[in-house]
Amino acid sequence: MNISIVPFGSGDIPFGKSLTDAEEWHRTGADWARLLRIEPQGVFKATVDGKGAGVAAITSYGKLAWVHSVIVDRKYRGQGVGKALVNACIDYSDGLGVRTLKLDAVPPAKKFYEKLEFKTEFESLRFTRSGAKGSALVQRMRPEDLPRVEAFDQTMTKIDRTRVIREIFRDNPEWAFMARDSHGIRGYLLGRPDDARVNLGPCICVPGTEQWFVKMVRSAMSTVPEKSYRICVAATNHKALIALKSMSFQVSQSSTRMYMGEKFSETEANFAMISPEKG
Ligand SMILES: CC(C)(COP(=O)(O)OP(=O)(O)OC[C@H]1O[C@@H](n2cnc3c(N)ncnc32)[C@H](O)[C@@H]1OP(=O)(O)O)[C@@H](O)C(=O)NCCC(=O)NCCS
Repeated sequence: MNISIVPFGSGDIPFGKSLTDAEEWHRTGADWARLLRIEPQGVFKATVDGKGAGVAAITSYGKLAWVHSVIVDRKYRGQGVGKALVNACIDYSDGLGVRTLKLDAVPPAKKFYEKLEFKTEFESLRFTRSGAKGSALVQRMRPEDLPRVEAFDQTMTKIDRTRVIREIFRDNPEWAFMARDSHGIRGYLLGRPDDARVNLGPCICVPGTEQWFVKMVRSAMSTVPEKSYRICVAATNHKALIALKSMSFQVSQSSTRMYMGEKFSETEANFAMISPEKG
């Protein structure tokens, strides 16, 4: 059996989507295309004897990067393909000078990542609920707001997520909200629908102003009340958990945040992850 790791290109999107569909990850072709635009060299395909066998990818933010989209076709599991894919991600991030790798491991994959020497950091929760009728309580983000929002994000998170923010906004401008008062930007929220629900995140709010988080989430949920909404957040952000419970969100899934390398603690301003694959 000959395992090779090769670059994943736009022609591989149908293959990638067949794997995410088989796992019911609800990822659209546009989501795959956006991942490639964000990190064109950081998406990998495994082949076994020349046939597509798996995928894995990285989203990097300077000293921090996320490993994601690790899937091996069922018929090739247990033969070292997953390990070869994650090792390709580690090699790629080493080349970028990344000091911390993170990921969200679903329960069945936790032991696989432990074998690869990822350590547990905390529980990562996914909350869902259906939308609600109402009117927008905060303003929508406009293209001209982007530079200030990106600078705000960088100040709060201490990493540069500009590429990712830009690409999500570009594909979903109608799902972008921001909160502003006399002090300037207090928070922002981006959303993006997939084929099952609307994913809300990233959301950054100045700590202590979580009323803006509630207002932005309510504004998003009133956009299409019939849809289901999902927010992923660290179980360590108690203010976000309290706010989500006050809006009747329920935990629908949990995974384990794992890391490798230097410890990088996330800011309490992080009220919603971008997604399990982009941190
Ligand atoms: C998780 C997954 C990628 C593993 O891929 P794989 O090709 O079967 O894994 P490998 O054969 O490379 O296994 C590497 C090591 O991990 C171990 N391992 C793999 N899956 C394991 C599991 N579920 N439980 C315990 N150990 C596991 C293997 O025994 C092997 O150990 P060894 O190095 O001592 O021999 C694959 O099962 C998969 O695609 N799952 C569905 C998608 C998914 O959940 N992805 C992760 C999202 S967070």
